Amino acid sequence: MPPRVVPLIDQRSASLVTPAAAFSPDTRVAASGLLSDTRGRPLRDLRISVTDRCNFRCNYCMPKEVFDKDYAYLPHSALLSFEEITRIAKVFVAHGVQKIRLTGGEPLLRKNIERLIEQLSALRTVEGRPLDLTLTTNGSLLARKARALKAAGLQRVTVSLDGLDDAVFRSMNDVDFPVADVLAGIEAAQEAGLGPIKINMVVKRGTNEHEILPMARRFRGSGIVLRFIEYMDVGATNGWRMNEVLASSEVVKLIHAELPLVQLDPAAPGETAERWGYADASGQHDKAMGEIGVISSVTQAFCGDCNRARLSTEGKLFLCLFAAQGYDLRSLVRAPTSEASDANLASAIAHIWTGRTDRYSELRSAMAPDAGTGGRRVEMSYIGG
Ligand code: GTP
Ligand code: 5AD
Ligand code: SF4
Ligand code: SF4
Repeated sequence: MPPRVVPLIDQRSASLVTPAAAFSPDTRVAASGLLSDTRGRPLRDLRISVTDRCNFRCNYCMPKEVFDKDYAYLPHSALLSFEEITRIAKVFVAHGVQKIRLTGGEPLLRKNIERLIEQLSALRTVEGRPLDLTLTTNGSLLARKARALKAAGLQRVTVSLDGLDDAVFRSMNDVDFPVADVLAGIEAAQEAGLGPIKINMVVKRGTNEHEILPMARRFRGSGIVLRFIEYMDVGATNGWRMNEVLASSEVVKLIHAELPLVQLDPAAPGETAERWGYADASGQHDKAMGEIGVISSVTQAFCGDCNRARLSTEGKLFLCLFAAQGYDLRSLVRAPTSEASDANLASAIAHIWTGRTDRYSELRSAMAPDAGTGGRRVEMSYIGG
């Protein structure tokens, strides 16, 4: 096996410049609830990373060799405050965002996260409806926090869980965290009413593919939607290789052989997951048994209707999960002058989204299957999944 290359490139300080036209009285754009990028894709989904820290060291995301005790996490002063996040989120919502997902790192490590949830849950979409407000967590603190999160206004959670076997789980999180504690967290979330709960399992060939069937059996009929994610070449430190990717088509085939599946229509435009329902004896979707999802960004890119924007922990706007650089919105909200006005912020976001061309996964799949994709990308722990 060739040695893993772990380049230490810090892209966090680099940032793109907001188009000057955003601030000129002649070309300033107000929020109209509908923005469209160069490929006609609207802006509907905002993912906000609230911390770049995590208590796990999943080797596909924060490998120990890189994220060690000397790793320079962002200083507290660099983080957006809850007020700054809410102010930016409000402008995004005015542009048509309907779903906000809090991510990290591990978002439940951010102190007083409930306060942020309270503020965000007060926002209303352009149509006057509450937002779809959700959070992706590794589940380690969920047993303790589920009720408070619900009380603060969080609607649902997605929990990452890569296997049920304790030894496999402990080795994948690489901090020896027991699977029983995450399962207890999932139960607490169910009891608190944080549903529909989704579980994300990253599948790595040679590491946890034997956990696919036990996971499917366990969550079938539980009301929880289990989703299988193809291991992605996100970030620059996980030493990604194509031969460790197990295609979603194989996951579906494997489950279907034991638990027959039928394909379901997408629930919403621009969704990441393809949906498959458990079938009854007549081959129809058995709703009581529920569904699974497969997220196939490597073998079947879904950039065509990607409506997702990402706000990093320090306030940079990224237009793609695989982007190398983001636009510095924090300097806009912290500017002492009129530049800081919400009108300018709204105009900046409009100009940036209107110019968006990103479609990394599509371009990636047009390359040779094992082509090196270069290392100039931010880490997922910084930008959020
Ligand atoms: P819901 O279905 O509304 O719960 O959300 P979702 O599927 O958008 O969210 P989630 O954050 O659970 O996404 C699941 C996984 O899909 C993430 O952990 C990423 O691994 C991957 N993913 C999410 N968004 C993108 C994207 O825009 N591009 C790519 N390539 N992968 C993504
Ligand atoms: N490939 C696929 N999914 C990943 N995640 C993190 N890194 C990767 C990767 N390299 C997923 C985690 C979690 C979410 C935050 O992102 O499993 O569900
Ligand atoms: Fe932490 Fe999630 Fe990354 Fe694992 S995948 S290291 S739990 S942020
Ligand atoms: Fe969207 Fe980029 Fe993911 Fe494509 S690769 S779906 S453009 S975030």
